Amino acid sequence: MNRSAQWEDDSRADGVADVFARLFAGPADGVWAAPGRVNLIGEHTDYNDGFALPIALPRNTLLAARARTDGRLRLHSAQGEGGITELSVAALAPGAVTGWAAYPAGVVWALAEAGHTVGGADLHFDSTVPTGAGLSSSAALECVVAVAYDALYGLGLPGPELARIAQRAENAFAGVPCGIMDQMASICCTAEAALHLDARTPQDHRQVPLDLRGQGLGLLVIDTRVSHDLADGAYAALRAGCERAAALLGLPALRDVDAGELPKVLRALPAELVPLVRHVVTENARVTEAVSRLREGDAAALGPILTEGHASLRDDYRVSCPETDLAVSAALDAGALGARMTGGGFGGSVIALVEAGREDAVGGSVTAAFGAAGHRPPRLFPVTPAAGARRLAPERGTRRSAGSGGSEVRGLSR
Ligand code: GLA
Repeated sequence: MNRSAQWEDDSRADGVADVFARLFAGPADGVWAAPGRVNLIGEHTDYNDGFALPIALPRNTLLAARARTDGRLRLHSAQGEGGITELSVAALAPGAVTGWAAYPAGVVWALAEAGHTVGGADLHFDSTVPTGAGLSSSAALECVVAVAYDALYGLGLPGPELARIAQRAENAFAGVPCGIMDQMASICCTAEAALHLDARTPQDHRQVPLDLRGQGLGLLVIDTRVSHDLADGAYAALRAGCERAAALLGLPALRDVDAGELPKVLRALPAELVPLVRHVVTENARVTEAVSRLREGDAAALGPILTEGHASLRDDYRVSCPETDLAVSAALDAGALGARMTGGGFGGSVIALVEAGREDAVGGSVTAAFGAAGHRPPRLFPVTPAAGARRLAPERGTRRSAGSGGSEVRGLSR
């Protein structure tokens, strides 16, 4: 398997630690990484207590971190403008922090809100997860803080609990009413596997082996460079529509709709809710089908499932856009086995499942189609299922004292 991108990110740990030492006058307690994700299938199902099947990208947010004893939280990003943002942990509250710093600060707030004893820290971030591309750069930012704080403050929390804390930060602190898929993917994915998530019981997630190369396949991510913004109300409105439908049906969530009863269920709903419910119910079935095919070792069979999923997002859920539709149709015309938008929608990225070696040809065709339509060229990158959040340095189990303002690393690597 080609894991060079993963190794590239891992080898950036020293450089990130060096920048930290210059910024914060002394060594970090450790360096952690958390990836972005693409979802293979199972879109807009997580907040309906349903199923999803994401993989982690070999693109990570790295964090060099050191605990502080004075309750101050100092944040710096290699990608951010301006210098160090300084906050007080005790003063953190929803609405109090804006911009990118709301995501890491929100995690510290959410840990404290959940009753964990956490203090300040010096944090330096450096990320290769594209932002605004529907690849969960915000979840990567949250999750890397969650795993670092877990270690720095010796919390010992299981991955799904850290994911829940990170989701809480995004919901309550950053104001985005997302489900738990992105955070679960960033923390709990493993290399060469897809994560079978049941959003009702995230702790029961399963790893589904997915050796794309071994099966003669490749996965191409096509970032349309159309920026989406989940905070703009459209996502919240869709979520509210699903919750209203479940309430009208007298069910805890749309996950509880019996697929065999779907025609009858749809007849009982107001017209505007019918396509939402049809998408969620059929999408959950597509996840189940995809997992069965993968368990049988037939990853190529995912192709038509992805393409059907795209049609459902385009025609029923209506979260596609001309650029994502064009990327899907151009990829299919160029021989992709299947393609669909991934993530929340309203732009963002498309994934295309291709025969190994066809990535460049399919990517080239999509780029040509974008040019002909007058769109900016998309960004293309082939991916393989990568590892979830982890400590990169120091090595698992080592302890060392930190410089001024720091403390000893108390927790061991997750
Ligand atoms: C965004 C959200 C997720 C999920 C997807 C759609 O990525 O953050 O929780 O709802 O959209 O599947």
